[in-house]
Amino acid sequence: MQEVDKCNASSSDWNVLYWILGTVLMPVALPLALINVWQRMRAHKYRNQLPGKVVLITGASSGVGESLAHVFYRAGCKVILAARRVEELQRVKRDLMALDVQPAYPATVLALDLAELNSIPEFATRALAVHNQVDILINNGGISVRADVASTTVDVDLKVMLVNYFGAVALTKALLPSMTKRQNGHICFVSSVQGKFAIPQRAAYSASKHALQAFADSLRAEVFSKQVFVSCISPGYVRTQMSINALTGAGKNYGKMDPSTAKGMSPDKLAESILQCILRKEPDILICDLQPKIAYYLRHFCPRLFFWIMTKRAAKLEHPGEKND
Ligand SMILES: NC(=O)c1ccc[n+]([C@@H]2O[C@H](COP(=O)([O-])OP(=O)(O)OC[C@H]3O[C@@H](n4cnc5c(N)ncnc54)[C@H](OP(=O)(O)O)[C@@H]3O)[C@@H](O)[C@H]2O)c1
Repeated sequence: MQEVDKCNASSSDWNVLYWILGTVLMPVALPLALINVWQRMRAHKYRNQLPGKVVLITGASSGVGESLAHVFYRAGCKVILAARRVEELQRVKRDLMALDVQPAYPATVLALDLAELNSIPEFATRALAVHNQVDILINNGGISVRADVASTTVDVDLKVMLVNYFGAVALTKALLPSMTKRQNGHICFVSSVQGKFAIPQRAAYSASKHALQAFADSLRAEVFSKQVFVSCISPGYVRTQMSINALTGAGKNYGKMDPSTAKGMSPDKLAESILQCILRKEPDILICDLQPKIAYYLRHFCPRLFFWIMTKRAAKLEHPGEKND
């Protein structure tokens, strides 16, 4: 008899669980699952349309840009590689040409200095002349800085803003008319989680990425009706040369690999995620692990706590020998 009672009790526990699943979770879970399936199907459909698309990637000479060149080339795109170091771009091009890919279009190398704003319209004209159009522009080229505000010269603030923000703005404006005229195009900004919240010793970098985020948000709304899509991608730390290439407050080369950058995600993995975001026409996305996601929500929903944590972090960074991440 006791056994029967036990069985009845455990079956009523299951009934409660099924009730919770059915009435509380299912109405949320089912639409989410359906949206996910729909997005995957749409991404699959668009992936088939990628071969032959013209993709212009800035900052393609290393790190994320180099990985983007590989994923779009392997997807059958006509890639245009842009950065200052032409010999590095040629190396990336040689690596691409050595891949066994079908269909394969020769990659194009174009020199670009994002800090030279006056030269950008002419650069855009040359980029357009290669295949008569640019379908996807990936504004990826950028630099960082490692210094507190007090020891950063205004020249360094200007340089970071020029490359990360005004360079991307100038290139976007130069290519936008050709996209709106064709009623076709995708503009992607590689921002950073530091475009969502700022941390100590990164004021210039964070400010440039916040500006980029705002620019992308305005542009997205304006060009949607012209079939031009805008994605703003905010990655966490990525294992690249970013900290090595960063500037000091005085404008010198920082030249060190930060522990957090060394432990960051692989640029290949990020590049594949960016391709997926473009296929899904993702407007705005964080690609990072849990810690920056928590920081993002704290900054917006619990700002006082976020500021207190950042104050502690700034104090820690002030002491020499402390971990710099
Ligand atoms: N690494 C990270 O932890 C991380 C995290 C979030 C977001 N991001 C973003 O990812 C993007 C790529 O950075 P990365 O991590 O791949 O660093 P990276 O390896 O240092 O690559 C930076 C790229 O930007 C180009 N670049 C720098 N200054 C330029 C200029 N004046 N004109 C044209 N191109 C210029 C560089 O090429 P040249 O030197 O040949 O010009 C290089 O190809 C950046 O926008 C960065 O903010 C990086």
